[in-house]
Amino acid sequence: MADGTPVSASRAVDEERLWNRLMELARCGALPGGGVNRQALTEPEVQARLLLARWAEELGLPVLVDEIGNFFVRRHGTDPSAAPVMTGSHIDTVPAGGRFDGSYGVLAGFEVLQALEASATSTRRPVEVAVWTNEEGARFAPGQMGSAAFVGARRLADILAMSDRDGVTVAQALEPILAATPRAARRPLGTPVAAFVEAHIEQGPALEAAGCTIGVVTGIQGRRSFLVDVQGEAAHGGTAPQSARRDALLAATAMIHDLERAMRDPQDRVRFTVGAFDVEPNAPLVVPARVRFTVDVRHPENAVMERLGDQVGDICLRHARGCVVSVTENARAPSISFSEEVVNTVESAASRLGLRHMRIFSLAGHDSRELFKVCPTGMIFVPCKAGVSHNEAESATAADLAAGARVLAEVVVELANR
Ligand code: HGY
Ligand code: MN
Ligand code: MN
Repeated sequence: MADGTPVSASRAVDEERLWNRLMELARCGALPGGGVNRQALTEPEVQARLLLARWAEELGLPVLVDEIGNFFVRRHGTDPSAAPVMTGSHIDTVPAGGRFDGSYGVLAGFEVLQALEASATSTRRPVEVAVWTNEEGARFAPGQMGSAAFVGARRLADILAMSDRDGVTVAQALEPILAATPRAARRPLGTPVAAFVEAHIEQGPALEAAGCTIGVVTGIQGRRSFLVDVQGEAAHGGTAPQSARRDALLAATAMIHDLERAMRDPQDRVRFTVGAFDVEPNAPLVVPARVRFTVDVRHPENAVMERLGDQVGDICLRHARGCVVSVTENARAPSISFSEEVVNTVESAASRLGLRHMRIFSLAGHDSRELFKVCPTGMIFVPCKAGVSHNEAESATAADLAAGARVLAEVVVELANR
C-alpha cells in the first residue's frame, strides 16, 4: 500500500522477486549446461528444502512436514479450523531437467503467500503451499509418490520399502530429507484440503502457438507405465554359439521394435516412451545377461489407452528368445476432468486480469491428478519456449511466470473465502 490505498494480492505479486527465487532454487543441483539435476531425496533436494525453509522463516510462516516428506508452508486464515486451500507442486527434477518444471508451481505459490502478506489480504481459510515428494519418479518409480501417499492412493509402508537401482530404500533416502527441517512441525498424511490449484509450465507448444499467456487446464490425460525385466544368461561374446545364447539385449530390442510398431498413430496422439534402459553387465565382450527397461503409454481417450496398454505384456513375452521375461505395470491412471468450479474460477481470474487465455488439456502428468481424488482441483499453465521440457533448455519468460502467479493469487483468494 504505497499511498495507503490497499492493493489486491495479485497486484502485489512481484515479477523480479519470483524470477530471482526461481534462479536461486535452480542452483540446487545446477548442471553446467544450464539445467538442473535435483532428483528426489538427493543432496540437492536437501539444499532446496533448506532454502524454502529459510524463505518461509523470513516471511514468519510455519513449515510442516509429513511422514513421506511432503513439505507445507502455511498462512493462517481468520477461521483456523477451516480446511486450507492448497497450491504448490514439486521440486524434484528428472536427471537433466529444467529450472521451471515443478519449481515454478512451488515458487508461484510462495509468491502468492508473500503477496497476501504484502497486501495484508486476509482469507477465511488458511492457505498452504505444498511441496510434494518425488513427483517425477526418476529415482524411485512411479512418481507422484508424495501426493499419492497424502491422498491415500498408495500405502506408506509399500512406498518406504521401494528401492532405487542401487538398492537404497525410500525410507533410507528420506532420513536426510526429514532431518533437513528439524523445526518443521510434523503432521499426519491426508489432512483435509478444501481445494487444490497448481501452477505449472505447459510443457507443450499450444499456448505459445496460440499467443496465450494463461492455460485454463481442464484435465490430465491417462497413462499406463510398465517395467520390463529380461533375464538372459551371460556368456563369452567370442565363443558362445549364437544358437546357444540367451541374449537379453537382442530380446529387449526386438520387444521395443514391435512395441513401437503397435503404438504408431497417424493422428500422433499416442505418447509412447521407453525412457530407461539398463544393460547388465554392460561389457563389450559379454553377452548381455539382463536388461530392464520402462514403457510409458498415454492417450487422452481411456479406451484407446487401455487397448494399447493391454498389448505390452503379450508383445514382450512373444520376443523372450529363451529369456525369463517379467512385465510389471507400476502405474495406471485414467484421463480426468477437473472440477468446473475451479476451472471457471481460473478462467474468470484470467479474464479479470485481462490476460489472453485458452482452455487446455494437460498431456503431462502432475500431482494434481492425486489431489483430484480428495478435493476440487485445477491447474494454471503458462507457456514455455517451444514447449520444450524435461530438457536443460527448458525456458519461460519472467512476465508469463508472474502473470500465472497473479492468476493464482486471484484464484486462491476467491477459493479461500468460499
Ligand atoms: O509424467 C509426467 O508427465 C510428469 O512430468 N512427471
Ligand atoms: Mn516433469
Ligand atoms: Mn512437473
